[in-house]
Amino acid sequence: MSVEQDVDVDPRPSGWHALQIVALPVDTNQHGLIHGGWLAGHMDMAGNMACTRETQGKVATVAIENIAFLSPIQVGQTVGCFTRILGIGRSSIRIEVDAWVRNLDKDAAWVKVAEGLFVFVAIDDNGRTRAIARS
Ligand SMILES: CC(C)(COP(=O)(O)OP(=O)(O)OC[C@H]1O[C@@H](n2cnc3c(N)ncnc32)[C@H](O)[C@@H]1OP(=O)(O)O)[C@@H](O)C(=O)NCCC(=O)NCCS
Repeated sequence: MSVEQDVDVDPRPSGWHALQIVALPVDTNQHGLIHGGWLAGHMDMAGNMACTRETQGKVATVAIENIAFLSPIQVGQTVGCFTRILGIGRSSIRIEVDAWVRNLDKDAAWVKVAEGLFVFVAIDDNGRTRAIARS
């Protein structure tokens, strides 16, 4: 995936809507801005949920290849994470996770604030890699 930092041609979220959460004052840094680690953690969780669903079992993050933060998030905005599986190997899944925000007003439009590329590995109960079953 080439991670674009420009405005999307189609400014609507796509993929699986894995999670949604509201940004709170406790999620800000000393400058009063929502900090990147908070968002990265939720993007990681969204990717984990999508890969758990896909592989029907445990997964672990093995790599975060890239995260681009495109715009700041305001306290009170709803953050949604959307996932798209890019490829499945023997035990690994490459997945794009995009974060979008919108205000809580009815019919508020989504605006993309970050995009990331993660790799998860399917693991068994002992933490060893397991082959992903092909459907
Ligand atoms: C995930 C883990 C079990 C993989 O073990 P490993 O010995 O690296 O396994 P392998 O070398 O066989 O790699 C497994 C797969 O991951 C892929 N992979 C490993 N490291 C990778 C990396 N840095 N980037 C992309 N893919 C990677 C391999 O290509 C392989 O893919 P495939 O099976 O689809 O061909 C092990 O690295 C681990 O436990 N890491 C910690 C995970 C974790 O705790 N994450 C949360 C951090 S807080």
